Amino acid sequence: MKGIILAGGSGSRLAPLTQSVSKQLLPVYDKPMIYYPLSVLMLGGIRDILIITTPAEQDRFRALLGDGSQYGVQLTYISQDAPRGLAHAFILGREFIGKESVTLILGDNLFYGDGLSDHLRSGIDSARSGATVFTYHVKDPERYGVVTLDADKRPVEIVEKPTEPKSNLAVTGLYVYDNDVLAIAGGIKPSARGELEITDVNSAYLQRGDLRVEHFGRGIAWLDTGTSDSLLEAGEFVRSLQKRQGLQIACLEEIAFTKGWIDLRQLERSSESYANSEYGAYLKTIARSARELEGPMT
Ligand code: DAU
Repeated sequence: MKGIILAGGSGSRLAPLTQSVSKQLLPVYDKPMIYYPLSVLMLGGIRDILIITTPAEQDRFRALLGDGSQYGVQLTYISQDAPRGLAHAFILGREFIGKESVTLILGDNLFYGDGLSDHLRSGIDSARSGATVFTYHVKDPERYGVVTLDADKRPVEIVEKPTEPKSNLAVTGLYVYDNDVLAIAGGIKPSARGELEITDVNSAYLQRGDLRVEHFGRGIAWLDTGTSDSLLEAGEFVRSLQKRQGLQIACLEEIAFTKGWIDLRQLERSSESYANSEYGAYLKTIARSARELEGPMT
């Protein structure tokens, strides 16, 4: 299973914040936004990840995340010359994906909550054939791709930003596909807004009877970062939970260490590289407890 983070786009709804920096590099409380979707892929066990950026910003993403080895993953970068649509990711990522299945996550989508890893695993496990989308109940479905289900909870229709939505089920920015996505994305035409729509890809799977829908219930937060208000609210959400629990959301080194992808030495090296920040202090605490369990240093 390969992973793709789509982190291009113009970020125009957040201007002037995004005038000289990509939206996905903006802070969500104490971390750059892209940490959150990257943590989701890592929690799903995905280690081979392509990051799609604007040409102008690719160096900044590289400066932030490097080759991924400090998180026990392998990061590849590719740039998108213009926002040609979410499904363009599969045209750009064709070689990277090769013969494998792929999970796509939007670089500005934040997911958090109980059972998230289980949902991801079940979506990823079923990717041997077909596609899985993840839905979330929202009060403003007209802003999203919207799914209608039949009485047996099977998807019957999926529409991009309908003016009169038939349900409150939004399609979130997380998608799992088998390798057929390459052929399907290669065959769709740009929409009226000039983009290769992910909804057209999902509708193609739906017509073949190959689209599964996993629902994220009340225990999961799917946060928006599309406006200045929602960006601030996402930051407040992260801050409140972290302060209350003393646990970090989207701490990449912690996830990597817990999964056994990096060793204690690497964790300690990373914790030192963050100097005096709270994030660094958190990593030092984790490293210290692990060191105590391991016994005295040799
Ligand atoms: O967030 C979930 C929604 O994402 C889905 O419900 C919709 O079905 C899907 O079309 C998409 O809707 P948006 O209108 O929110 O997509 P937007 O154009 O804002 O792009 C989402 C992110 O992807 C954004 O941060 C920029 C990035 N992007 C977008 C495009 C079109 C790219 O990197 N390249 C692109 O070509």
